[in-house]
Amino acid sequence: MYNRPTYLEINLDALKHNYEYLKSISNKDVFAVVKANAYGHGMIGISKYLDTLNCSYICVSSLDEAMRLRNKGVVSPLLILGYVKLTQQVITTVSKNQITLSAISIEWFKELITYNLTNTPITLHIEMDTGMNRLGFKDVTDVTFMIESSKEKNIIWEGIYTHFHSSDKQDGSTQKQLIFFKNMLDEINYDFKWVHTSNSDATLNLEDTISNATRPGLALYGYSSVPSELVPIMHFYSHITQMKLLKKHETVSYGATYTAENDTWIGIVPVGYADGLPIGLSNNFNVYIGNESCPIVGKICMDQLMIKLPSHTVADKVTISGTISNFETMAKLTNTITYEILTCLNIRIHRIFRINNQVFIEE
Ligand SMILES: Cc1ncc(COP(=O)(O)O)c(C=O)c1O
Repeated sequence: MYNRPTYLEINLDALKHNYEYLKSISNKDVFAVVKANAYGHGMIGISKYLDTLNCSYICVSSLDEAMRLRNKGVVSPLLILGYVKLTQQVITTVSKNQITLSAISIEWFKELITYNLTNTPITLHIEMDTGMNRLGFKDVTDVTFMIESSKEKNIIWEGIYTHFHSSDKQDGSTQKQLIFFKNMLDEINYDFKWVHTSNSDATLNLEDTISNATRPGLALYGYSSVPSELVPIMHFYSHITQMKLLKKHETVSYGATYTAENDTWIGIVPVGYADGLPIGLSNNFNVYIGNESCPIVGKICMDQLMIKLPSHTVADKVTISGTISNFETMAKLTNTITYEILTCLNIRIHRIFRINNQVFIEE
């Protein structure tokens, strides 16, 4: 049961549009990145819908996230992009649940082969580090050694990938990383089923003839730094729970940072910084009631905020992120990135997933 009138509404038709747009613009399979609760959108609802699109891979960051999806009945192939701490039990779990791991270093691989893999085939994608200097192999000889030494080991080398550090910039660095990756692939000389490089921005702006899959996160949810036909798939709504007349010179909220210049109607809205709305939006962001813009007045509280109303007769649905201003606007105003705003949306917010306006699932 959900009682609090604050919710995120996710339009799965828009997700399908973005997914198919990314597929057609790249002419590759799309591995959908749903880590960090699908960038705040709700990883169960998003992944269950991706199942219906026969997505080739759903990418997560940890075994915990992968098992959360499997335990909720998600059936698509799962690829973990992050580090997995190995134990014999982890190996059994991963193998039984058909979860693909990333081979991230020679040390990690050497540990893997100390375990008994006889009845537990392990599928791996190798991560190559072409300049991000995070996870992955920099040395091709480590990779060839690894493949060579795994012959009797029940290991399936299914894929290989790299990750770009500046795909939002037109400075040639992404092309450089791609060429570096191609040279590595030539040296490794192995016939992988999957080769993948591009995150969202690279999917939209990089000419890549090396890979057969792309790995977008943010773009699936409707955002990119380059012009595109993507549509943001999530709106954020709440309702006014109380209206109040502020008398001239009265203040609002903690620290009394807003003072009414005249008698002013305000509305109390049950959403706050604990939901993921940055406190930096206090006195600095407008929500909407219909097309009427309503500024947030005073400091945003943990669970509530106050807005200035156009009149005392408006007590209605409040759009916190919609078509006029959205999560991207919030990021700009608080000097952060859309990724951070989205991924900080608290799991406590009710999420409603809709297809053709009908509820598909809630979480
Ligand atoms: C390895 C890897 N691939 C793909 C992505 C998706 O990136 P984006 O959301 O920019 O598309 C990420 C995101 O951080 C990542 O770490």
